[in-house]
Amino acid sequence: MVIVGPPGGRYAVHVGAGASRRLPGILAAREGISRAHLVLDARVARIHGQRVKALARKAGVPISATTVPAGERSKSVRQLARLWREIVSAGCDRDSVVVAVGGGVVGDLAGFAAASIYRGIDLVQVPTTLLAMVDASVGGKTGINIPQGKNLAGAFHQPIAVVMDLDFLRTLPPREAGAGWAEVIKTAAIRDAGLLETLERKRTALRGMEALAVLPVVEACSRIKAAVVAEDEREAGIRRILNFGHTLAHALEAATRYGSLLHGEAVAIGMVFAARLGESLGRTERGTAARLENLLRDYELPTRPPRGISAARVLGAMDLDKKRGPGGLRWVLLARPGEVIITDGIDRSLVQAKLGEFLKTGD
Ligand SMILES: NC(=O)c1ccc[n+]([C@@H]2O[C@H](COP(=O)([O-])OP(=O)(O)OC[C@H]3O[C@@H](n4cnc5c(N)ncnc54)[C@H](O)[C@@H]3O)[C@@H](O)[C@H]2O)c1
Ligand SMILES: [Zn+2]
Repeated sequence: MVIVGPPGGRYAVHVGAGASRRLPGILAAREGISRAHLVLDARVARIHGQRVKALARKAGVPISATTVPAGERSKSVRQLARLWREIVSAGCDRDSVVVAVGGGVVGDLAGFAAASIYRGIDLVQVPTTLLAMVDASVGGKTGINIPQGKNLAGAFHQPIAVVMDLDFLRTLPPREAGAGWAEVIKTAAIRDAGLLETLERKRTALRGMEALAVLPVVEACSRIKAAVVAEDEREAGIRRILNFGHTLAHALEAATRYGSLLHGEAVAIGMVFAARLGESLGRTERGTAARLENLLRDYELPTRPPRGISAARVLGAMDLDKKRGPGGLRWVLLARPGEVIITDGIDRSLVQAKLGEFLKTGD
């Protein structure tokens, strides 16, 4: 178990094969709980819904549920409004708990519904993707997309508990698993050189989602994310190190209109670029980029942008990100594996030149 302790409240992260068996105990232990409203990803509901609902019923409190269509498009005003309506009409009050069961999409959407309905009710996160376990479900960021951009409306709302049942990972489609591994590799790269070695050494067991190998890795990632978040709940400083690989990733996602790359795949490409940029500036230890590339390939992740993306479009997306972003465009570079440098002093024309080269090497 990992304890997360941001100023917004302390909570436990339960990690393990079969960890969702803890759900009834967690709900029952919540004093005065009037109801649990489950919000399930449709695909997860099809595969695991009955088991999760049966577990929730064991808590001995009234249960209701909303199923949300799978996919990023559900992080919408429409689905949020629907959740508000269904949470209220199911009979939830201020003492009810929202239980988000799904990947980051459902976690962000249901989390924002919990943050806003009745000005905020309790939330339990039950992430079912690797990405949601190691990234989205810990840290308290919730939100939806609007036509002007991703995650532009949201709130910080820490859960009262997070349940990471590794059994869910067995049904995860391989590409989604890969996207999760990219964030795992990122976490290791910025903060834990030992974890990076583990990812290299145990790649076969890890890619096969063997619980014995995956458990310490997921725990290590939540511990790192928890530590970073505890220091900086509102992303004013150190939390930015989590954005390693994300400066280019966000721009690539925007330039491809969120069509061809999963977020984690874009992050994989972005990490390679940031490592190369750092090496060419003499700020990243030589060989780091090659090592990252090998590791990413081992986890079947792309290391080059898709062919035919225009540099102008990617730069345009970066400039837009800079205008919008909290604190502007910053590069998170690695000094060496496990150690980062954050800088906003990189010349735009240098980035442009390096980017041009990098895009030409596209897959
Ligand atoms: N709040 C944060 O701090 C934070 C951090 C990172 C990402 N995010 C957000 O998370 C979202 C991405 O999350 P994601 O990668 O989990 O995507 P997702 O929620 O879309 O899930 C990916 C796909 O996997 C399916 N799925 C989920 N669990 C499954 C399982 N156990 N078995 C079979 N299929 C399963 C879903 O139906 C979906 O089709 C993005 O919207 C992103 O903005 C938020
Ligand atoms: Zn990310």
